[in-house]
Amino acid sequence: MCSSPIGFKLGLSIDRLLNIPWLATTFAVLIALLVLEQTFYRLKKRHLPGPAWTIPLIGRFADSVHPTMENYRKGWDSGPLSVASVFNIFIVMASSNEYARKIMNSPLQVEPCLVHSAKSILLPENWIFLNGKTHVEFRRGLTALFTRKALGIYVAIQDKTTRAHFAQWSQEFSSAKPIMWNARHLNMATSLRVFCGSHIPDEATREIGDTYWHITKALQLVNFPFAFPGTNVYNAIQSRKVAMRWLTLAAHRSKLAMLNADSAEPTCLLDQWVRVLADPAYKGRKDFTDEEMALVVFSFLFASQDAMSSGLIYGFQHLVDHPAVLDKVRDEQDRVRKGNYETPLTIEMLDDMPYLRAVVKESLRLQPPVLMVPYKATKDFKIADDYTVPSGSMLIPSFYNSLHESSVYPMPFSFVPDRWLDPDGVANQNPKNYMVWGSGPHKCIGLEYAMMNMAIVLGLAASTFDWEHERTPNSDKIDIIATCFPRDGCRLKLTPRKVA
Ligand code: HEM
Repeated sequence: MCSSPIGFKLGLSIDRLLNIPWLATTFAVLIALLVLEQTFYRLKKRHLPGPAWTIPLIGRFADSVHPTMENYRKGWDSGPLSVASVFNIFIVMASSNEYARKIMNSPLQVEPCLVHSAKSILLPENWIFLNGKTHVEFRRGLTALFTRKALGIYVAIQDKTTRAHFAQWSQEFSSAKPIMWNARHLNMATSLRVFCGSHIPDEATREIGDTYWHITKALQLVNFPFAFPGTNVYNAIQSRKVAMRWLTLAAHRSKLAMLNADSAEPTCLLDQWVRVLADPAYKGRKDFTDEEMALVVFSFLFASQDAMSSGLIYGFQHLVDHPAVLDKVRDEQDRVRKGNYETPLTIEMLDDMPYLRAVVKESLRLQPPVLMVPYKATKDFKIADDYTVPSGSMLIPSFYNSLHESSVYPMPFSFVPDRWLDPDGVANQNPKNYMVWGSGPHKCIGLEYAMMNMAIVLGLAASTFDWEHERTPNSDKIDIIATCFPRDGCRLKLTPRKVA
């Protein structure tokens, strides 16, 4: 006769408990559900690597609350496809280049799937939730915002904003402190000025910047999903309202400025957009309200703020830890700027800085800000000859192994910008491996702008400051807060550069 220890303590045996009919039924239903859960998991998992059984109900919930690089890498290295389950959502992880790309280039079988709370925070009507033909058409209308002509306008704004922040940094970084928050503020100010120009006041950039961290936190993989006051999601919704108020005003002002004066030159992304929409040759949709334009700009802010801050902070860390590379960046800056560091940067000057571009590319490869992007199978999806992903599963293509593939990137865990200098070199000859920006129809639309921004900030910082890194035991540890950050925030001391 088998009795549970709790039953003994309470003076009850399992037999007696099971004689209570409703308790027996509940118990039987629970056992049946648990058996079903395991059976479905095993049927879906088939031969793929992953836990043999799933923890009832929660699965690998604990891992997703505190994601670590170590755990992720264990999963990616367990096979090109591996599985897990969290809260009964069946997850297939793809770590090889072939499978990651296959997922991202199969819009008929999969769609991007942001975290549960994303629609409440970013609003369901946001274009980033579109898929298929409607997505392609909407996105086509936005490419005019990232042409070379448009980027030329943005360079001047990026350069000016960076200089203004560096004037403060020279005071603030006279002794070592984490660069993380300053980099995030600089990034936010630059993005808002590029997107909205002078159509929003300085106080708006401060207000949006101050509250934006709520959005970052609420878009992590695991969050309490309901927007009760005090929760991350609630706070993020308030932050979105603040941002949207200012961005809507900016869209309105941009229309006034551009439509009332035919000769007015665009001074920011919104102006550029208004000008394109007003062009009789433009055949796409033209009737965007102020709110709709603001929501698109908000999507750019959301897509850029965390990823670009991460890229920038690791850019600083990689450069300061490789003084020979930093010296080469300085040599190139000196050559192109001809010793005149006050002259505003132009896109042509950036074209003449191949080494800096290689540094940015390599830094993003070595520590990609975005490790993976979740997708969802909208129907059964035959990903490999011997495996079909069941409809409704989550698919997570990861970029890390593609970016550290030793046959494409010899010494994959070293910082070697020179690998990008030879157009015939193995890195440049295998662009499919460079998945920093994703792949397929949802590939990052702001990649040129992001690369330019990192180049401008790092190039100017190399010319302006002498850098020292106060390394700590946490410098090489990685925190994953939506994107990746060095755990100690990268502690830098920046002093005015003494040119030899
Ligand atoms: C270092 C900085 C950045 C990184 C690493 C990055 C990376 C990515 C990645 C991995 C994706 C998903 C691609 C996919 O699903 O295939 C993405 C999408 C996107 N990114 Fe970026 N991004 C960065 C900066 C930016 C910036 C500055 C902007 C805007 C100005 C931007 C706008 C977008 C948008 C709108 C999407 C969604 C595109 C779509 O669904 O069609 N990103 N980005």
